[in-house]
Amino acid sequence: MKTIDAIVALAKRRGFVYPSSELYGGLGGFYDYGPLGVALVRSIKDSWWKTIVDLRDDIVGLDSCIILNPEVWRASGHVASFTDPLTECKVCHMRIRADQPVDVAAHEAMHRKAGIKTVEWTEARQFNLLFRSFVGPVEDSTSQVYLRGETCQGIFINFPNVLATTRVRIPFGIAQIGKAFRNEVTPGKYLFRVREFEQMELEYFVHPDQAGEMLAYWKNERFRWHLEMGLGRERLRFRQHEADERAHYAADSWDIEYDFPEWGFREIEGIANRTDFDLKTHARHSGRDLRYRDSQSPDPYYPFVIEPSIGISRMFLALLADAYHEDGKRTVLRLKSGLAPYTAAVFPLVANKPELASQARDIYVRLKQLFRTAWDDRGNIGKRYLTQDEAGTPWCVTVDYQTLSDGSVTVRDRDTTSQERVSRDRLNEYFGAKLSISAK
Ligand code: GAP
Repeated sequence: MKTIDAIVALAKRRGFVYPSSELYGGLGGFYDYGPLGVALVRSIKDSWWKTIVDLRDDIVGLDSCIILNPEVWRASGHVASFTDPLTECKVCHMRIRADQPVDVAAHEAMHRKAGIKTVEWTEARQFNLLFRSFVGPVEDSTSQVYLRGETCQGIFINFPNVLATTRVRIPFGIAQIGKAFRNEVTPGKYLFRVREFEQMELEYFVHPDQAGEMLAYWKNERFRWHLEMGLGRERLRFRQHEADERAHYAADSWDIEYDFPEWGFREIEGIANRTDFDLKTHARHSGRDLRYRDSQSPDPYYPFVIEPSIGISRMFLALLADAYHEDGKRTVLRLKSGLAPYTAAVFPLVANKPELASQARDIYVRLKQLFRTAWDDRGNIGKRYLTQDEAGTPWCVTVDYQTLSDGSVTVRDRDTTSQERVSRDRLNEYFGAKLSISAK
């Protein structure tokens, strides 16, 4: 059955995700990506960057620091209000978020099961999610810094630099992919709520009169991207934030939610109208005039910002969940072929026949120049197919005795398990054509 536990087990078994610091008992809310995981993460980032930056004229990229001048976080409001309400169970002293009724109820139920009739909680207090550190040898309030809680502040503070050094003019965007850190009170749900994660954020600067129209435009663009990544249409939906759940900077906020097995619909991406809050607050705190001016606009003004923001670990988990299928005795990850960690795997039918192994090795080395290609010569061929099915590899190439006589190999399709014979000299074109069909 497609359960979260089954997905977690596959991710561990095949080297997609490991609990971080596992050797020392792990660390709550931290995960490492294994060899197949980094490949999938890279595919996600490449696709986002290509769509958002490379294929457009109006968006440029940026890579700002994780540690910024702490004034940035005071100006952005994070020092004062990037908080979650925390409450402590008076029975076991466990601390959880007071604003998550489901977690509170589950905790109380756990105690009741153990015979405790009433569970009391301490009054909720606000807990700041920013991780702290120190710059330089002295650890005091003057050297205290924060690990960034969102990547976009690096974009806002570089707004004047990008304007001064590029040709972008409103409407335009600045995009960034990078780590963000949040000292979540209750990390959990596997990769869904972690304490260290990567965000892919776009800050799109528009004239205030265009904000509504551009929010609608970006909602549409982003939804399309999720479909292109292969997520099922019926498992995606929009949800608009209620006024009381919007972040302090937002005038309107929408989530793209994915219908996870067991958990139901959960946010994977947020798209917000951040108004002119960030540029104005940084102008006030820095004393710099951050208003936009160009030859078309007689009066300088603060642009509004439309922000699509997505965490890679949530997208990763949605992709795994969507691709996970149990099909008779096998488990298959039906990832889109362009996203799969390996496009193809190459096997000699049997490992101990040097003539098969050397032909297979030759094909493997050639394919590797163009496609992410795996090699496997262990165990029987059936087991090798099953391993690649779980890795999401769309095609397996087997060199067998017929290859020695006519130069053809079998190509086995992950989803249908059907096999066809293809000339070994045509494999580059064959996979190139398959990938371009699946990219459409
Ligand atoms: N700059 C806006 C911002 O950071 P957010 O709604 O707090 O807004 C945006 O986060 C996205 O970052 C979310 O939609 C989610 O995909 C991801 N995200 C946020 N907190 C996360 C966490 N603790 N673990 C994993 N991903 C997270």
